Amino acid sequence: MKGIVLAGGSGTRLYPVTQVVNKHLLPIYNKPMIYYSLSLVMLAGIREVVIVINPSDEPFYRKLLKDGSHLGMRIEYSLQEAPLGLTHAIMSTRDLVGENPAMVVLGDNILYGHNLGELFRKVKDSVEREGGAYVFGYHVQDPTRFGVVEFDQEGRVLSIEEKPQKPKSNFAVIGIYFFDITLFEKGARVKPSARGEYEITSLLEEYLKEGSLRVSLLGRGFAWFDAGTHSSFLEAGNFVQTIEEKTGYMLGAVEEIAYRNGWINREELKKLACLYQKTGYGEYLLKVAEEETNIAERLYFHC
Ligand code: DAU
Repeated sequence: MKGIVLAGGSGTRLYPVTQVVNKHLLPIYNKPMIYYSLSLVMLAGIREVVIVINPSDEPFYRKLLKDGSHLGMRIEYSLQEAPLGLTHAIMSTRDLVGENPAMVVLGDNILYGHNLGELFRKVKDSVEREGGAYVFGYHVQDPTRFGVVEFDQEGRVLSIEEKPQKPKSNFAVIGIYFFDITLFEKGARVKPSARGEYEITSLLEEYLKEGSLRVSLLGRGFAWFDAGTHSSFLEAGNFVQTIEEKTGYMLGAVEEIAYRNGWINREELKKLACLYQKTGYGEYLLKVAEEETNIAERLYFHC
């Protein structure tokens, strides 16, 4: 399975902040926003990632994340000519992803919760084995801002609607999607919506029609943010600060995940840490590199 992170779009909901800087390069507390979405793909154990960007942002991404080899990954960039919607962004990666299933993460989504890596790896294996698409629902106060999923009594999906004025449930579809190899074939059938965008919900409807869309609800033990508005952006940053200061663990530290995944070794992690030696981020990476086997992680409860 390959990863696709969407970091294009015009970010108009964050204007004037994003008038000249791409949203996903802005800091969520102490790291660029893109680190958090990229880290979700890495937690799933995916090393080959395509990042969709606006053509004018290419130099910045190449400077920040390069070709991914410093993380033991392969990162490629797909230049989306115009921000015509999420399915359009995904379709731009067709040649780079090829005949592979894909995990797609929206670059402004942040998800925090216990055992995320284990959850993603299970879903990834299941989509690789059985096909179809797999998404997650999350209970929100105001579903009108999101894609909304409706279920019947047996938990079967009845409908998926993009930003409905009269939502049929309070469950938002979060920006993390797993697709089988029919992704591009189905994506090519998607037509622009009334607001002129190639919606992700229309792509999900293609799977729904075929009876191959699966949805799991994420319960109260998870915190999910779509950092695409001024207040949710600030809220996400405050959340990251609170969790990091309380637990001493960082969220979205891509170098740490690469190391724990065994994609880079201790010496390589130390070298990366030295690039940031004057900050808490560098100190943290150094601490991770110097710790002995992580006993705490092994003692956590696993089913
Ligand atoms: O966050 C979850 C929601 O994300 C879902 O519930 C919705 O179904 C889905 O449509 C999406 O809604 P948003 O209104 O939040 O999408 P937004 O326009 O913010 O785009 C999401 C990400 O995709 C953002 O990080 C920028 C990127 N993007 C967006 C567009 C329109 C692209 O890379 N290319 C694009 O053309």
